[in-house]
Amino acid sequence: MARSSVPCVWTTLGFVLVAIGLVAQAEARAFFVFGDSLVDNGNNNYLITTARADSPPYGIDYPTHRPTGRFSNGLNIPDLISESIGSEATLPYLSPELTGQRLLVGANFASAGIGILNDTGVQFVNIIRIYQQLAYFQQYQQRVGALIGIEQAKRLVNQALVLMTLGGNDFVNNYFLVPNSARSRQYALPDYVRYLISEYQKILQRLYDLGARRVLVTGTGPLGCVPAELGTRGSRNGECIADLQQASALFNPQMVQMLNALNTKIGSHVFIAVNAEQMNMDFISNPQAYGFVTSKIACCGQGAYNGIGLCTQLSNLCPNREIYAFWDPFHPSERANRIIVQHIMTGSTKYMHPMNLTTIMAMDY
Ligand SMILES: *[C@@H]1O[C@H](CO)[C@@H](O)[C@H](O)[C@H]1NC(C)=O
Ligand SMILES: *[C@@H]1O[C@H](CO)[C@@H](O)[C@H](O)[C@H]1NC(C)=O
Repeated sequence: MARSSVPCVWTTLGFVLVAIGLVAQAEARAFFVFGDSLVDNGNNNYLITTARADSPPYGIDYPTHRPTGRFSNGLNIPDLISESIGSEATLPYLSPELTGQRLLVGANFASAGIGILNDTGVQFVNIIRIYQQLAYFQQYQQRVGALIGIEQAKRLVNQALVLMTLGGNDFVNNYFLVPNSARSRQYALPDYVRYLISEYQKILQRLYDLGARRVLVTGTGPLGCVPAELGTRGSRNGECIADLQQASALFNPQMVQMLNALNTKIGSHVFIAVNAEQMNMDFISNPQAYGFVTSKIACCGQGAYNGIGLCTQLSNLCPNREIYAFWDPFHPSERANRIIVQHIMTGSTKYMHPMNLTTIMAMDY
């Protein structure tokens, strides 16, 4: 290849410079987020939907002290994962700021209100259902391919960390939304759970086919213990609501089995089960041990347990968000999110199956 050395040196140098730039960019691993309001960081701000967190007091403890679309007083779980692995927070996929080099950080495709099933969250009208999130992921890859080349884009996706948080809404905003819901007339709860798991498996297979190779999959929290359910379903002494607890107790172990089966089929630990039920249950059953005054009463809300309706400017608002496990009737406070992410990073196999994120980060690099 000694054809004409000068232009060759220049192209090589040019390539090396581009490559160094890319390596610097790619040093922090890309991060992609899919799912519902527990992980949405602002996509719904761009949609015509009632599932939104873009007015005060949401964001009251965020660095800007302004609402962002996160369903939190401050940071949410994806923010804290980004922080823990030393990367920038991802932007919502619909953000106009998500262009150029910022694409290489990753993207958040999540949308509050969605579930595994297409009919979950229909009451929120215009939300990004999971198959649309995956279609956007494909579109994202084309955009990144145009920026850094198809092969580099593929590598970025293969080496990325992915978070998938789905399932709670299929119970809360579908099966149990109203008494005698269409789904509850169609399925007994154990059959509904089996159906959800089989649909979830297809979604995760599609994510794998799109190039994801390291995916944290969170199970549902203890659905019957959130202030919204305590309030609306008439918990007398703060006891969790039995049918919703049964739903998470059925769903979570079957999800772990399904992930194991997928990993066996693929021949690699692509899917990591995050035991969100246990992580939440720790501070719900013993809030004082974690510095919370209560895990029953939401910081922002109204009515019984501050669990009725939405968190708005007219709601009761607790003065100190550090001592509440729940920010609003459904969503943990930033402090509770920090406890959850601490478990994701360093938890034993009781919390992270088969391994925690610290181990994953060490293995993959
Ligand atoms: C949900 O919608 C997607 C595409 O919009 C479709 O591919 C999928 O089959 C649907 N799922 C069910 C269970 O109908
Ligand atoms: C993280 O997981 C690894 C592997 O399972 C384990 O050895 C390690 O102890 C865990 N970290 C903590 C802090 O438990």
